[in-house]
Amino acid sequence: PVKYLLYLKHFQNKTKLASHITDLKSKDYSVGFVPTMGALHNGHLSLVKNGLEENDVVVVSIFVNPTQFDNKDDLIKYPRTLEADIALLETISDQKIIVYAPTAEDLYGDQVESQSFSFDGLENEMEGAFRPGHFDGVGTVVKRLFEIVKPDSAYFGEKDFQQLQIIKKLVELHGLPVNVVGCPIHRADDGLAMSSRNARLTPEHRKAAPFIYKTLTSAKIKFGTKSAKNVTDWVTKQFENQALLDLEYFIIADEATLKPTKRKSTKKSYRAFIAVYAGDIRLIDNIALN
Ligand code: PAJ
Repeated sequence: PVKYLLYLKHFQNKTKLASHITDLKSKDYSVGFVPTMGALHNGHLSLVKNGLEENDVVVVSIFVNPTQFDNKDDLIKYPRTLEADIALLETISDQKIIVYAPTAEDLYGDQVESQSFSFDGLENEMEGAFRPGHFDGVGTVVKRLFEIVKPDSAYFGEKDFQQLQIIKKLVELHGLPVNVVGCPIHRADDGLAMSSRNARLTPEHRKAAPFIYKTLTSAKIKFGTKSAKNVTDWVTKQFENQALLDLEYFIIADEATLKPTKRKSTKKSYRAFIAVYAGDIRLIDNIALN
């Protein structure tokens, strides 16, 4: 039943947003939440659609969070397309989506810095090792956003699988009343995982980039019969022949602990994780192996 007429709302102020949400909750609306940094693409939209299937309203936050960038240039060049983002969201629902696009001041006050977190060691692997401070920034902003939005469920993409695991851990360790839902990776037709950073690839790098997913799918087949080390060596070799792509890491890890795999066990789930530079642009992807 329609409880009362909603329309797409856009807030920049956390107090106004929170009071609107309190009002919705008092009318028994369930609230889904999709945190993003904007430059929305179909990957983001798939999360919003999942949220709309399971909730009465979905809050989409759009905020390029400075505290999670270890690379200043990446922060400066990160695409910011708020008008287009809102127009895109309107194509899915002009009634049930609430956009929260705060300023850094609204979210952080005058101290734009991260809190330090421990996530049972998940923060030390892969992205944590290669991007110092990154997950402190992510943890800080997501925890704040959860406190403001107070969602029933929050939707995160497996594209950033380590981030998804870390958010689940954040919720568990801090006893936050949010159901964290993981959503599958959305890809372009040629296999490249959708990312806001893809827009910054040169045409040549864009053409070369599908090699990343192609190699992941081959690695998955090889992992059926070969060791993690064997597959890792093979992948490393493949990238040596790619002039436009620089492999930063390829790691096969236990899905639960994210620790690199030494000996395979039939009881565990494994995933391959990859980070590659295409020119200045850093791309990540992953694939479930079993
Ligand atoms: P952002 O990179 O904008 O991604 C927002 C959400 O969309 C994340 O949960 C991410 O995993 C998901 N996503 C991105 N590309 C996807 C794809 N191709 N398929 C499926 N899901 C995809 O991740 C962040 O922003 C930030 O770290 C944030 C959580 C907002 C904190 O600042």
